[in-house]
Amino acid sequence: MATTTHVPPGTNSSDGTTAVAVVTGASRGLGLALTRELSKRGWTIVVDARDADALSAAVAGVPGVHAVPGDVTDDRHRRQLVSTAERLGCGRIDLLVNNASQLGPSPQPLLDDYPTDELGRVFEVNVLAPLALIRYSLPWLISARGVVVDVSSDAAVQPYAGWGGYGASKAALDHASAVLAVEHPDLRVYAFDPGDMRTQMHQDAFPGEDISDRPEPGSVVPALLRLLAEQPPSGRVRALDLAETEPASSEATS
Ligand SMILES: NC(=O)c1ccc[n+]([C@@H]2O[C@H](COP(=O)([O-])OP(=O)(O)OC[C@H]3O[C@@H](n4cnc5c(N)ncnc54)[C@H](OP(=O)(O)O)[C@@H]3O)[C@@H](O)[C@H]2O)c1
Repeated sequence: MATTTHVPPGTNSSDGTTAVAVVTGASRGLGLALTRELSKRGWTIVVDARDADALSAAVAGVPGVHAVPGDVTDDRHRRQLVSTAERLGCGRIDLLVNNASQLGPSPQPLLDDYPTDELGRVFEVNVLAPLALIRYSLPWLISARGVVVDVSSDAAVQPYAGWGGYGASKAALDHASAVLAVEHPDLRVYAFDPGDMRTQMHQDAFPGEDISDRPEPGSVVPALLRLLAEQPPSGRVRALDLAETEPASSEATS
């Protein structure tokens, strides 16, 4: 893995200002676990979720977090998220994590039975909203030589029965991430597959099933921090393929 570190976790960005991230869907699950760890490393993090009370309770007392509740499909909200981060970053955004996501109906239907309006909503949240957030953030990401993490899934590459709607949306997000990386070689753009995690979304995907054997979302965060610290070439990355622990150099600076 390359050792270039544009924005290593645990330090401020190269000009001495605090590194700024936007993390969508941060009231629980992976988004919240990542936000807590970035906060511990001195980042400023702008976060959202639709349920304002749940978001505010989740991030209460977490230093450096600015909650901007809203729905990523709402264009005014998207602009507010980005403008808040740009203002806090004084013209730079170091990291955009498109994490908020929509599973679709639970239980998930076969494609034969997939209601078109619900499929549209899945694509709106999982593809169109991340692309809009990327577009609005681009000038500030470029200033920071920043990183985009689009949270993907193995369903983007594996044709599981019942996962056609969600999986197709994540495949589209992966492809858009790959194109963005070619169009902007100065940025790092990752489609990040976290693997199974014990979260509300996972429970919704397996209604009534015991998912207590799945790992906690916090167990995936070291892989994400490693990705941010080491910044290999843009591409699709699985948490499984990254080492279990954060590199020693980042720990030393936290
Ligand atoms: N869990 C897994 O096993 C698994 C596996 C592979 C990939 N992933 C991916 O990992 C990411 C995180 O998933 P998770 O399991 O941590 O999910 P989660 O625990 O259900 O959390 C989802 C978060 O996103 C927010 N959210 C959902 N829709 C939103 C919208 N339209 N606008 C703004 N915020 C929204 C939720 O809050 P509100 O409901 O209040 O909006 C919540 O904060 C997702 O991209 C998911 O596709 C998960």
